[in-house]
Amino acid sequence: MNNFVYHNPTELIFGRGQISHLKEKVEQYGKNILLVYGGGSIKRFGLYDKVMSILNEQSCKVTELPGVEPNPRLSTVKKGIELCRQENVDWILAVGGGSVIDAAKAVAVGVPYEGDVWDFYTRKAVPEKALTLGTILTLAATGSEMNRGSVVTNWETKEKYGAGTTFPAFSILDPENTFSVPRDQTVYGICDIMSHVFEQYFTHTPEIPLQTRFAESIMKTVVENAERVLANPEDYDARANILYCGTMALNGTLPMGVETDWATHSIEHAVSAVYDIPHGGGLAIIFPNWMRYVYRENAERFKRFAVEVWGVDPSGKSDDEIALEGIAATEAFFRRIGAPSRLADYQIGDENLELMAQKAVPFGPIGKFKKLTSEDVAEILRMCL
Ligand code: NZQ
Ligand code: ZN
Repeated sequence: MNNFVYHNPTELIFGRGQISHLKEKVEQYGKNILLVYGGGSIKRFGLYDKVMSILNEQSCKVTELPGVEPNPRLSTVKKGIELCRQENVDWILAVGGGSVIDAAKAVAVGVPYEGDVWDFYTRKAVPEKALTLGTILTLAATGSEMNRGSVVTNWETKEKYGAGTTFPAFSILDPENTFSVPRDQTVYGICDIMSHVFEQYFTHTPEIPLQTRFAESIMKTVVENAERVLANPEDYDARANILYCGTMALNGTLPMGVETDWATHSIEHAVSAVYDIPHGGGLAIIFPNWMRYVYRENAERFKRFAVEVWGVDPSGKSDDEIALEGIAATEAFFRRIGAPSRLADYQIGDENLELMAQKAVPFGPIGKFKKLTSEDVAEILRMCL
């Protein structure tokens, strides 16, 4: 196991009716609030009214930043920074999925920064200060509710990058707020959660039995609950389990003492920077192909994955055969829940393949399990066509 430091200050407030805690958060952080949300789903399923009635009861002054796009845009973030400065807000409340939370994080670190907030995403600067951010999550997927990552797209330059920004001070997770997530977004979320675990599971770090079993527990729990939630979107316990898995998959628990990979996320970000496709859909296409491209680096790990997660029977089979069966099972699971499996499913051909391969490695080779150059990425993308 490698050395590690673990620090996660986010207060996680989980379960039915937990929105009642918003009142004490207003008392704690102040009444002048920027409310950030997306394209209107929170109005349609009634959460906006619930939030506003608590904020109005507390006589809050609420400034709104609506319309945050899936794959949130830098232009929207800049609008939010301006609003916070004009209104001198005390703190930011993000209500929505990962895109809304990521945009709100960018606003939170952008307000006290004198330069261009994009500097944080291009690694020209590191955030030192942030406005307080609270979140009410409505979609199980990114883990953004309990980490400091934020992914923003600069649509003018067609670049989509992640940055370490700020942890939410608190996040309210009520599984009922995810009942209305449409089937396709539910599937993308499941693919994203599984992919976060893959990024941290495929490693060369030896002697990490607890981290390995944590990761396997999350993967098995997601698989067990995926079809349940798709069959009945209002199954509270299935929604709760997926939601909890989403948070635990990317809140810093899995990488404790482990070298992690993250190449596939860089590749997906490059694809969605050029084609604006859903993140989880892109991952479902790319991950099995990344696996086939790299598994020989540590076939032992892939063998364990096949047996422990997918129940592959290893008897009489070579390591390669077992590993490949596990990869095929991963692909079959994604297909079974209705995820896309080829870039062609998004009408993407090889026109921009080299461009995407370049964009995937903006700061040099990516990945730790196997270091990938733009040539490797192009090869993997070709396998995805
Ligand atoms: O915009 P609204 O109207 O709210 O609709 C959203 C959006 O259209 C809808 N939705 C969300 N909650 C809903 C709902 N519809 C009905 N009922 C609800 N309860 O779902 C659509 C997608 O929302 P979005 O926030 O874009 O999805 P997700 O949470 O998957 O976030 C994706 C973004 O997060 C980034 C991705 O790259 C992508 O930009 N990531 C962020 C990470 C992080 N911060 O740690 C890590 C991830 O790997 C990922 O890269
Ligand atoms: Zn992801």
